[in-house]
Amino acid sequence: MTDIIAILKSFSAKFNTDLEKCFPPIDGAENRVIEAMRYSVMNGGKRLRPYLLCECATLFHVPYEIAFKAAASLEMLHSYSLIHDDLPAMDNDDLRRGKPTCHKQFDEATAILAGDGLLTYAFEYLSNALEIRPEIRLALLQLLSSAAGAFGGMVSGQTLDIYAVSTDSKESDENIISRLEEMKTGRLLRYACEAGAVLGQAPLPLRQILISYSRKIGQAFQIADDILDCEGDQQLVGKTLHKDDKQNKFTFVSYYGIEPARQKAKELVKEAITEIAVFGSKAENLQNLAQYIIERKY
Ligand code: IPE
Ligand code: IPE
Ligand code: MG
Ligand code: MG
Ligand code: MG
Repeated sequence: MTDIIAILKSFSAKFNTDLEKCFPPIDGAENRVIEAMRYSVMNGGKRLRPYLLCECATLFHVPYEIAFKAAASLEMLHSYSLIHDDLPAMDNDDLRRGKPTCHKQFDEATAILAGDGLLTYAFEYLSNALEIRPEIRLALLQLLSSAAGAFGGMVSGQTLDIYAVSTDSKESDENIISRLEEMKTGRLLRYACEAGAVLGQAPLPLRQILISYSRKIGQAFQIADDILDCEGDQQLVGKTLHKDDKQNKFTFVSYYGIEPARQKAKELVKEAITEIAVFGSKAENLQNLAQYIIERKY
């Protein structure tokens, strides 16, 4: 476990240096939105998605410099999702990654625009990544837009997250929660793993294994996030706690209770670790990462 924490830390240090270079200042008062974008991206995220993407790509010998392009664009998109998630009209959060949320640090209009800017720039940046062969780039752009979008992607999940409780639906609560979490969190984590496989032109069966691994750790990751909201240390988590309960969110924890949810996350991680063992010792970091996902303190 200490190993994977150190590995993640050293990956983040390098990744952050490279990521910062993607946001050069521009002239004029419109630089305000770039500043807000940089503020929200460069503020100490765990960089789990970029790490997963690069690590999966490494399984197929893809160099970091190439994987970085896809990883940076994914982190931009993820950061947009956090800015909008925190807005007063959504979760209304003041604290993100231990610092004031984007709309608190700047203002609401700037935060909306910074989110829009990051979402758009994610696609611009990836489409301009000439190091990635055109057909692979197109495949990544298609996968990323579908993972992030309103047809079964992250935006769908966020919609359910906000409206599921008050919607008069015939679907069982358990089913709604599982779709909700799969879409709002699972899809981007799945993209991270799948993108690594696509970059490496992995054979389909190996790509399927990575998808299955990502779905399991994705669900476990969100359960861990929900548990941290209930019983984490706010100083470490860097977000306001007990919000899910206050806002009547539909989560595995609210539905099953903490202990059964924790148990479920453990089982999912165990399955994910077994599944990915086909890659042999090359999968060790991904196995340790799966374990870290449920043991993390933030
Ligand atoms: C938070 O994601 C949002 C969820 C999907 C639960 P992370 O916990 O990966 O956030 P950062 O990037 O490390 O801040
Ligand atoms: C956010 O889920 C998921 C996305 C941003 C897509 P949460 O609302 O649970 O995330 P936190 O707890 O605010 O990070
Ligand atoms: Mg939310
Ligand atoms: Mg939130
Ligand atoms: Mg949460």
